[in-house]
Amino acid sequence: MSKQKIHPATSINGGIELPGDKSISHRYAMLAAIAQGTSELRHFAAAADCHSTLACMKALGAEVKVENDLIKVTGHGLRATKRALDAGNSGTTMRLLAGILAGQPFASKLTGDASLQKRPMKRVVGPLRQMGAQISAREDNFAPLEIRGGALKGIDYVMPMASAQVKSAVLLAGLFADGVTTVTEPARTRDHTELALEEFAAKIERHGLSTTIHGLATNGGSSNALQPRSLDVPGDLSSAIFFIAAASLFPESTLLIHNVGLNPTRTAILDVFLSMGAQISTPQLRSAHGEIVGDLAVKGTTLKGGIIEGSTIPLVIDELPMLAALGPFTEQGIEIRNAEELRVKESDRIAALADNLRRMGAQVEERPDGLKVSGRGSGSNTGGKLHAAEIDPRGDHRIAMAFAVAALAAEGVTVIRAADCAAVSFPTFYAELNRLAAR
Ligand code: S3P
Repeated sequence: MSKQKIHPATSINGGIELPGDKSISHRYAMLAAIAQGTSELRHFAAAADCHSTLACMKALGAEVKVENDLIKVTGHGLRATKRALDAGNSGTTMRLLAGILAGQPFASKLTGDASLQKRPMKRVVGPLRQMGAQISAREDNFAPLEIRGGALKGIDYVMPMASAQVKSAVLLAGLFADGVTTVTEPARTRDHTELALEEFAAKIERHGLSTTIHGLATNGGSSNALQPRSLDVPGDLSSAIFFIAAASLFPESTLLIHNVGLNPTRTAILDVFLSMGAQISTPQLRSAHGEIVGDLAVKGTTLKGGIIEGSTIPLVIDELPMLAALGPFTEQGIEIRNAEELRVKESDRIAALADNLRRMGAQVEERPDGLKVSGRGSGSNTGGKLHAAEIDPRGDHRIAMAFAVAALAAEGVTVIRAADCAAVSFPTFYAELNRLAAR
């Protein structure tokens, strides 16, 4: 397991193109494998998670050709696999695939790494059972999942939690169900599944927080198969955030991030940064396959900090580790509330953040649903100056990357233990950070 040393920086300068969006790549890979024919997916995510999805779709019978970040997927209908499907570290792979497998006329087993086997699956198992799938899970909640798919019926599902993965699992099962399936979410979550389903020619309607999908077999007389597509994946905004945060830390920074996905269900994090005084502009915007894409120009500044809570939380859920780790460098600090979901991500992110921030000398109050990180203004804090420490990312890519960024503005050389977990979403993260950091 590699250790990564992070030296302090004086600014972040230059240009960067990020790997393809993880959420969109998962969805395109799955739908391309369901479609009849060959799809081309350009700028597909380099993330190990998305390659777990590709490996699963290949095991399920799709032909998959990888030429750098161009992926060609040919679907001929899914077939049973001999071995368990391995989702690796990827919750999205496991939960979305569970929805697809629930609708197949064969049995499958889905497993993942030690972290994924600890994450709750009842949230997808429940509605999929209501649709008619037979699913068994360890302690009725955890992977491995054994899914006996088959004839599903459409349901009207009111989600108890704001989760794009749950919404997507039910919609994907709905594709194979009899009749229509409607999912209503309690708060808005990312809508890449809806946009991708539309793109691959599924029949889908959206009204406010409800989405209805028509089963392929009952598609109102139109085609009963998804259509292959040629698609470009935009750069991943959740990865861009680490560089936006890094650039914001130093007044001298000027950074241009090219070709980033700016879907409105993902950009709440930019609003949070702007409300804290960040200097971010979007000189270029265009639309691609229902998604919005643009460049982001970032300049350094002093961030104010603030409280993040309520319906904003599901929209910025993956960016909360980076925000929390910026807390000590902000004027008022950062407080995160209503984010208990952070405890069941790739690690218990609330505990991981509190522990590692304290290792660097920050003042942190850990709460069941979030944390409060004191800023520079706090009398008891070290005045925004963190010191170097040995960071334990707990196998969680976003914790590793968040602390690598915080370390740029700390005193001394920080060491990130087992730092290669960053490859789960961003294999070249440290090299890129190093390239852009002036010292
Ligand atoms: C994702 C949804 C979110 C997010 C995850 C990716 C997706 O999870 O945290 O990284 O691609 O649908 P939840 O649906 O559990 O909130």
